[in-house]
Amino acid sequence: MVFTETILRWYAENGRDLPWRRTRDPYAVWLSEIILQQTRVAQGWAYWERFMERFPTVGSLAAAPEDEVLRLWQGLGYYSRARNLHAAAKQIVSMGGFPSTLEGIRSLKGVGDYTAAAIGSIAFGLPAAVVDGNVYRVLARYFGIATPVGSTAAKKEFTALAQRLLPPEAPAAFNQGMMDFGATCCTPVNPACLTCPLQPSCQAFRDGRVELLPVKQETRKPVERHLTYVYVRFQGQTALHRRGPGDIWQGLWEPLLTEDVPAGAKPVVKGFKHQLTHRTLLTDFYLWEPAVRPDLPDGYRWIEEAELDTYAKPRLFELLLGKL
Ligand code: ADE
Ligand code: SF4
Repeated sequence: MVFTETILRWYAENGRDLPWRRTRDPYAVWLSEIILQQTRVAQGWAYWERFMERFPTVGSLAAAPEDEVLRLWQGLGYYSRARNLHAAAKQIVSMGGFPSTLEGIRSLKGVGDYTAAAIGSIAFGLPAAVVDGNVYRVLARYFGIATPVGSTAAKKEFTALAQRLLPPEAPAAFNQGMMDFGATCCTPVNPACLTCPLQPSCQAFRDGRVELLPVKQETRKPVERHLTYVYVRFQGQTALHRRGPGDIWQGLWEPLLTEDVPAGAKPVVKGFKHQLTHRTLLTDFYLWEPAVRPDLPDGYRWIEEAELDTYAKPRLFELLLGKL
């Protein structure tokens, strides 16, 4: 097939030299795929290296305290990934080793269809096609498919197509070729059609519909959420609280979250804007230096300010600390 051969040739010539592509150790591959789920290669690279250095084996990761894993993850966001990573490491250890079938890989916490196909193909040579936004875009354009992506029908259609195009003898190169090609050539805006090796047979290019594909489903506007934090400072200590399940930032530490700002607290920054995937946070941040030690609401504890670094925090809190 022209498409498959072109992607393989393009990948052989243009594929990125990434450290996790130099190994077939399933642990190293899995770690890279979890990091890259919602993080760009440029940012994820250093994290992958730090994790591999600190936890060279799945056993060492499984044995680590969760706080340490979260701390090493700090800055990457989407902390459920870090918690799932840790839980899956324990799963793998209890399975007696890394699973080598697609179903086994898919049963790991935090591993969905895409990640299972990526790990399976790269680490074990399994013939499973990855399907994500990059793949939707390249296929929708090349084959001129106007099915709105995001629907279940689209997932079925694009998965079946990608699976047909996947060469069983080179699934890892094809999948990673699709990732890189979508990331660097057939990009969301200003794709490099004029130098693209698929251009002679690309349907969208022929029809002048490159800008119109893929068709996106309407998305809802991100909702706004207001937060008021009070940073309490008393004799070199501050008050923190660990967030529970059922909301953003599970397991991370934050300062006093309250609607009632104590008299005497000084505003540090008001209406500070911070974007999460599904909402915009607007934060008022206060510094309060009371003369006597105040009682804390349930769930808060005093910690030494000098030890703040050792607590895993949301990125927002880090940014606010920088304003103190
Ligand atoms: N994004 C997700 N998986 C990837 C991989 N293996 N290489 C490059 N980018 C990726
Ligand atoms: Fe994508 Fe343009 Fe190449 Fe078609 S010609 S595959 S739209 S980069």
